[in-house]
Amino acid sequence: MQTMIFAHRGASNYAPENTMPAFELAYQMEAEGIETDVQLTKDGIPVLIHDEDVRRTTNGRGFIIDHRLEELLNLDAGAYFAPKFKGTRILTLDQFLEWACDKPLHLNLELKNNKIAYEEIEIKVLDAIRNYNVKKRTTISSFNPESVKRMRQLDQTLDVALLRSRKHPNLVGYAKELGASSLHVKHTLLTPSLVRACKAANLQLRVYTVNRTILIKKCLKLACSGIITDVPDKAHHIRNNF
Ligand code: G3P
Ligand code: CA
Repeated sequence: MQTMIFAHRGASNYAPENTMPAFELAYQMEAEGIETDVQLTKDGIPVLIHDEDVRRTTNGRGFIIDHRLEELLNLDAGAYFAPKFKGTRILTLDQFLEWACDKPLHLNLELKNNKIAYEEIEIKVLDAIRNYNVKKRTTISSFNPESVKRMRQLDQTLDVALLRSRKHPNLVGYAKELGASSLHVKHTLLTPSLVRACKAANLQLRVYTVNRTILIKKCLKLACSGIITDVPDKAHHIRNNF
């Protein structure tokens, strides 16, 4: 199987991360998948944003969990990136799924619940992907092992990924114990032996954030299941000529 290209927070090298311009661009660049980050508002609505607070990527202040959706939708989530993106809004998960559901894209929804425990985020996200009928082409990932376990308890057939940036003495065994069907690792953890162990354990191995040519080639050479990249156009070009 060919290594799949996932656009990390959309085509985030070229447009404000986790916004519609970044997702549209990823689609135009023929990324096969899109990775995005999910958190909950004060009123419990899943929205797409990476940081727990809005300061870096919007003109607002404070934590997502302290703002109601209505307040968040008034923020500008594009001007920080470049003036031409002024007026870009934060997206809800529903808005994203509405856009994605009729496109041939694999979705990688990261639950950003490793610092803040969002109540029932697993059920809310699962309900949403079922409602939009995209479950078969969605991966739910999380750095939070409890959340991986919970997701697997809630659904036996969903693709659930453990995210990991740090070493573990038996990472593959740990992921399997939690019920994960995929493992998403930081590129620094990628080794031929990890690839072999994932294969033997029937775990899909995807690698983030793979932007440099040498890393893209390494993932292709090791036949990883997927790479998660800010530069899907570059990854395509390299894969086409590999
Ligand atoms: O899903 C892979 C990657 O997005 C995890 O790290 O910090 O970019 O969300 P981060
Ligand atoms: Ca992420």
